[in-house]
Amino acid sequence: MAAPNLTAQAAPARGPAFSPGAPGAGDPYFPDMGNGGYDVSHYDITLTFDPRTKAIGATTTILARATQNLSRFDLDFQGPLQISKLLVDGRDASFARSGAQELVITPRHGLRRGSRFLVSVTYAGVPRKIDDPALGVSGWVATKDGAVALNQPIGAATYFPVNDTPDDKATYSQTITVPSGLTVLANGEPGPTTTHDGRTTFRWHMNRPMASELAMLAIGKYDVTRGVTAGGLPNITAIGKSIDTVAGQGKVFNQTTAQIVQWEESMYGRYAFDSTGGILADVGVGYALETQSRPVYDQSTSRVDGDLLAHELGHQWFGDSLTPVHWSDIWLNEGFATYSEWLYQEKFNGIPVAKSFAQTYADEKDWTGTVADPGRDHIFDDLVYNRGAMTLQALRLKIGDRAFFRVLEQWPATYRYGNVSTQTFIRFVERLTHRDLDAFFHTWLYQPGKPALPAVTP
Ligand code: TRP
Ligand code: ZN
Repeated sequence: MAAPNLTAQAAPARGPAFSPGAPGAGDPYFPDMGNGGYDVSHYDITLTFDPRTKAIGATTTILARATQNLSRFDLDFQGPLQISKLLVDGRDASFARSGAQELVITPRHGLRRGSRFLVSVTYAGVPRKIDDPALGVSGWVATKDGAVALNQPIGAATYFPVNDTPDDKATYSQTITVPSGLTVLANGEPGPTTTHDGRTTFRWHMNRPMASELAMLAIGKYDVTRGVTAGGLPNITAIGKSIDTVAGQGKVFNQTTAQIVQWEESMYGRYAFDSTGGILADVGVGYALETQSRPVYDQSTSRVDGDLLAHELGHQWFGDSLTPVHWSDIWLNEGFATYSEWLYQEKFNGIPVAKSFAQTYADEKDWTGTVADPGRDHIFDDLVYNRGAMTLQALRLKIGDRAFFRVLEQWPATYRYGNVSTQTFIRFVERLTHRDLDAFFHTWLYQPGKPALPAVTP
């Protein structure tokens, strides 16, 4: 019998090794965003807002599952908010803030791969919005009568601790308490509203998977309109009271939203969420955003009209229900949303899609970048929107109307609630059409320069 190896036996051994989760999710444009080692299934955000001080006090509880044996893990959390308490599975855990947005949490015991755990973070302070020179204002934005949270691409961590990556979707409960007289809107379905001692608590639930960049909150003075679409989908819209409106505009906004959702369902298939709507607000960010189930339209956007609604509601299929893993693939959102505008112009204003394409193709100045990898500072460039939509029209000419409209319906149906990439899309279209389209997509999506007009080969 061989002598026992005393050195090996002395190792602590027994049981698996535990190691830290990664501090980023691997997006080359935003390396600090998201984290590794776990998967969030639910966020419960309970938040009180004081419009006088602009401060919040909040507890966010996160239900997650470890995807590796974790000795510690990160959440994304930015800015001046102070944490007063942090529990993992109900017990105090040690934590540290590191860099611009890492909250590093070390639980008392390692978390075994596959196990579920609860993280509860209590914090307070005045949130600080993000003002990125290339990507504009996002996150928690204080307004004249409240606040609006718009998270694309990197704003969520300004008001709650989060695994801020589009490929860790989760359900959300938002319980928001404000002085009575203010209204709170958020994603999804309303729960009961209760009032105590001059404060009102609003409850909202998003029961379908949602990316953190699509979570939204609007606090302020709003006129709310409730309706249903022709298909019976609940439809909640709101207009900020400070916004100049003509009589009946609340109703028109609600009905136009319903009409567009109904029409988009006829092309893109069943709507993925349990309600729809929209919020017209005075945020001052200069853009509208496809926040899940209920887009936000900043009144300073140059136009809030039917084709902008068609754009943001089109995103509910393209961007929200299915979501690119990486920000480089954002043309999969913006190309389809812009194409939705072209379809809207044809259906409601009699301007053929072919004309929108021809005009964009003739007028476009920006032919230098790569649509399917525009670079971090260019994800909202015209290139992504316009050439994204032109790529779809070129595809339509190449594969014919029948196949193209099957793509518009089957693509979101196949990847509902999931994550995708440009490669997923190319393989999907090739399978559906039984054609090799690599050269075509290479020209339109990856090769800078103005592509030749597509030849029609149905
Ligand atoms: N993604 C939004 C849309 O197309 C627009 C948007 C969000 C945007 N953030 C932005 C545009 C920043 C310019 C700058 O619906
Ligand atoms: Zn868009």
